[in-house]
Amino acid sequence: MKTYKLKQNLTQVYKNYTNEDLTVWKLLFKRQFALLKTLAAPEYLQALEKIGFTANKIPDFSETNTILSKITGWKLEVVEGIISEPDFFELLSQKRFPATTWLRKLNELDYLPEPDMFHDVFGHVPLLIEPKFSTFFEEFGKLGVKYKCDPQTVQMLGRIYWFTIEFGLIKSKNELKIYGAGILSSHGESKYSVGNQPAHLPFDAKIIMNTPFENDKIQDKYFVIDSFDQLYESMQLIKRTIFEKFKVQV
Ligand SMILES: [Fe+2]
Repeated sequence: MKTYKLKQNLTQVYKNYTNEDLTVWKLLFKRQFALLKTLAAPEYLQALEKIGFTANKIPDFSETNTILSKITGWKLEVVEGIISEPDFFELLSQKRFPATTWLRKLNELDYLPEPDMFHDVFGHVPLLIEPKFSTFFEEFGKLGVKYKCDPQTVQMLGRIYWFTIEFGLIKSKNELKIYGAGILSSHGESKYSVGNQPAHLPFDAKIIMNTPFENDKIQDKYFVIDSFDQLYESMQLIKRTIFEKFKVQV
C-alpha cells in the first residue's frame, strides 16, 4: 500500500467539496447508520451524536476540532493518505489523529484501494471522545514512538491496532457490537462481523500480539472486549509484554 509523506499545514478546503462529494457522504452515512443503530457499540452511537456528524453535512474539521479539544484534547491532522508508521505513532502520541479530506466517488462506494474521509472520520473520529478509548489510543502512540525502531515490536503493535482500533468488537448487554473503524465504515463487514460465520475470541492482548492478520480480505476472526475499561487496562499487559521481550533479548 502506498504511503504518503507527512506534510505540515495541510488543511481541509471545505469550499472545494462538490455536490457529488455531498451525495456520497449522505449515501454512505444513511446506509451505515441504518445498520449501525442496532449493531454499533452504544458508546460509538452516543459519540457520533455528541460530535455532531449527520448525513446532511460533510464534517467540517474546524468544528470537529473544537468539540474534540473540549472533551479529550484530540485534533484532526490532515493527511493525503496512509502515512509511515513512525509518523503515525508520533501524531497519535500527541493526540493528533491523521485524517484524509477526500471522499470516494459514487461509482466506487464499496471498493476503496485506500481509506478515504468516510473511513477516517465517520469510522475513527467519534470514539476519540470516549475517555478510556482516547487514553488507550494516546498511550498506544507513545509506545509506538518509543519502540518505532524495533520491527518486531512495531509488528506486535500493528496487530493490537488491527484487532482493536480497526476491527474490534465489544460485548454490550450480552450482545456483540462494533467499535472498530474498519467495520463501522464497511457496509459489507458490519453485519458479517457480528454474525455466526467468523470466530469471536475473548480479548487477550498477549494473544493478539502473536496473531497475524491479512489486510486484503474480510476477517475470519474478531477479538471481543467486555468494556472500554478492559481495553484501557490492557495497556499495562501490552507494555509488560514488550518489556519482557526486550529483557529476554538482553
Ligand atoms: Fe483506519
